Amino acid sequence: MGEHDGVPVPGALVQADQPWGDAALARLYDAFPFAADLPLYLELAAAEGDRVLELACGSGRVLVPLARAGHHVAGLDASPHMLALARDKLAAAGPEVAARARLVRGDMRAFALDGPFDLAVIAVKSFAYLVDRPDQLRALRAVAAHLRLGGVLALDLLHPAPAWLLEPPGSLRQDLVQQVPAQGVTVARTEAVVSIDLAAQVRVIRSAYEVVADDGTVTKRFVEWPFRYTYRFEAEHLLERAGFEIEAVYGGYRREPFASESRTMLFLARRRE
Ligand SMILES: C[S@@+](CC[C@H](N)C(=O)[O-])C[C@H]1O[C@@H](n2cnc3c(N)ncnc32)[C@H](O)[C@@H]1O
Repeated sequence: MGEHDGVPVPGALVQADQPWGDAALARLYDAFPFAADLPLYLELAAAEGDRVLELACGSGRVLVPLARAGHHVAGLDASPHMLALARDKLAAAGPEVAARARLVRGDMRAFALDGPFDLAVIAVKSFAYLVDRPDQLRALRAVAAHLRLGGVLALDLLHPAPAWLLEPPGSLRQDLVQQVPAQGVTVARTEAVVSIDLAAQVRVIRSAYEVVADDGTVTKRFVEWPFRYTYRFEAEHLLERAGFEIEAVYGGYRREPFASESRTMLFLARRRE
């Protein structure tokens, strides 16, 4: 039994149980490529200045393309295994690109990096790993403290739409199969809802992976973690308390208006002057 903002959550795992807690699971994250958000972050970095901070940078999915584009990037992540993948990608990109990037193992709730930065990014729902309101606020305040005045935070959250909230325990959210030639495996991923607590705003998610190697060996892995969803105006209040001014909320990575049916809820928030 976990507890979030004073509300008990059956089945929730403690924060230390991160899904990317070993090397094999970190590699599985990269088996399902996603790039729809990259043009937006490249555009923001070009517009805001080239010192970029990415929190929960993971395996470098966003950070490496930013460094390739000529920006100076610092990436912070809690998982040494995800950071090791990012380091490998930077090494493969060559010394000039790698020289523009810094990777730091740390916790987005409390960190101190040399700054200031022009742009900060928290991509693909990584903020949802913070399950308590004080943790959310600590992280946002730490970001604000690392941005120059007028610097921008891009915060990509999930829109907790009613249909998503009402998916009952046991429902399968996704079922993906992917060949990964670089790893010599085929991976099937099934994501299931374990529990949903509307009072605590926490859904516990289980990702099950079946990994079939080219020699026929089958390995099964699963991870389970609490996902804290945040409503639009709750996020706005949090950002404002942390010292930001809301500049925009988009419903997609092409700056679509945020609307009832949006799946994404992406904030651009500027550190207040
Ligand atoms: C789903 S991955 C996303 C990685 C990356 N943001 C991307 O867009 O590909 C989530 C990442 O959040 C990291 N993470 C979770 N809680 C964290 C925390 N408190 N501080 C820093 N990183 C954290 C995990 O280690 C993992 O690499």
